Amino acid sequence: MTTIAIRPARNIAGSLQLPGDKSISHRYAMLGAIAEGTTKLENFSTGADCASTLACLKALGVHWEKTDNSVVIHGRGAVLSAPESSLDCGNSGSTMRMLSGILAGQDFSSTLVGDDSLSRRPMARVITPLTAMGAAIAAGENGRPPLRIRGGHLKAIDYKMPVASAQVKSAVLFAGLFAQGETSVEEPVRTRDHSELALHAFGAEVQQRGNAISIRGGQKLHAIDAAIPGDISSAAFFLCAAALFPASQLIISNLLMNPTRARLLDVLTSMGVGLSVTQLEEHHGELSGTVQVQGGKLTGATITGATTAALIDEIPVLAAIAPYITNGMEIRDARELRVKESDRIAAVATNLRRMGAQVEEREDGLKIPGGQSLHGAEIDSFGDHRIAMAFAVAALRAEGETIIQAADAAVISFPGFFDALQALVQR
Ligand code: S3P
Repeated sequence: MTTIAIRPARNIAGSLQLPGDKSISHRYAMLGAIAEGTTKLENFSTGADCASTLACLKALGVHWEKTDNSVVIHGRGAVLSAPESSLDCGNSGSTMRMLSGILAGQDFSSTLVGDDSLSRRPMARVITPLTAMGAAIAAGENGRPPLRIRGGHLKAIDYKMPVASAQVKSAVLFAGLFAQGETSVEEPVRTRDHSELALHAFGAEVQQRGNAISIRGGQKLHAIDAAIPGDISSAAFFLCAAALFPASQLIISNLLMNPTRARLLDVLTSMGVGLSVTQLEEHHGELSGTVQVQGGKLTGATITGATTAALIDEIPVLAAIAPYITNGMEIRDARELRVKESDRIAAVATNLRRMGAQVEEREDGLKIPGGQSLHGAEIDSFGDHRIAMAFAVAALRAEGETIIQAADAAVISFPGFFDALQALVQR
């Protein structure tokens, strides 16, 4: 376990490009595995989570080669091989939930396991629809991992999701590829649509009607060549760091701009951050562009409902900068944050208090008064990558040094995070 010391900054300046988006990397790897032909992915995520996906695919008989930032996947078509041992998903909920959808369609048994954090996370949300489709799934206590999946002959379902979760939606759509008939999944609010776009890019027909997405079973996928845009959830830490200082100037190029992921830009703009987006491009349905940020005087924000769902991975860093903002921040409808890699509501509240902030912790969110001065403190990442990175950002405006314990959690999504941050900090 490593600790990292963060000293206060004067401002953020410079430019960077980020490793490929984690959500897209998982999906392209999984769909490449069950496609016909060879999929070539540039700027693949460098995070440990996507390495977990690749390792599981290898155990399922998928050959791939990886160089620095590119992965070549030799698709198996729809049929994978039974694994000889458990499939280790590490810390990755995306790997476990989305791969479950594919395994539900395979005519063999497999067991998915995870680390301590993943072993505490709810899996009933995928077990329920996949069981209704015909898979036999046994889980640990209260629907927690490990999951033992006996896949096989699936039938299509119409499924109304009780929670907003792109991972669950993806699991059902991926299983739908193997089902007889047309599977439809309806979400309570729109979540990231990378699976829909990726399925289409790999040659499947996917229909969208309102918040319902449907897919016909038996469609064949075909390999793609893709360069994955930079991860906007990793960019969030740098955007929020830049937002903290009026003199900041930051440019992030080739950044994912998918509208279902870019809500942070709207929120920052509404808070008074100067943002511009240029060089927009679209590949395989995914938008990317160059974002330029100038710090400003920040006002408050209230984040609720569909905005909370759209921003779910960016809330830790927004909450971590909230005390510095005039009027602070109120976050509601964020109960899902309690079942992420850590209980992120509790983790944010605990660490902000350690830095001397006043925070009101609620069952489904946080209320953080603005205009506060924080001091350096010992921060616990709770083994959660986004908590480690969020508090590295909060530390930049605190008085004195902040120590982030178990900072190496950042490797889950962005191994180079602390070096990239140091390179942009001016003191
Ligand atoms: C993800 C969906 C979200 C998000 C996670 C990645 C995805 O999880 O928090 O980091 O790639 O589909 P939920 O599906 O649990 O909301």
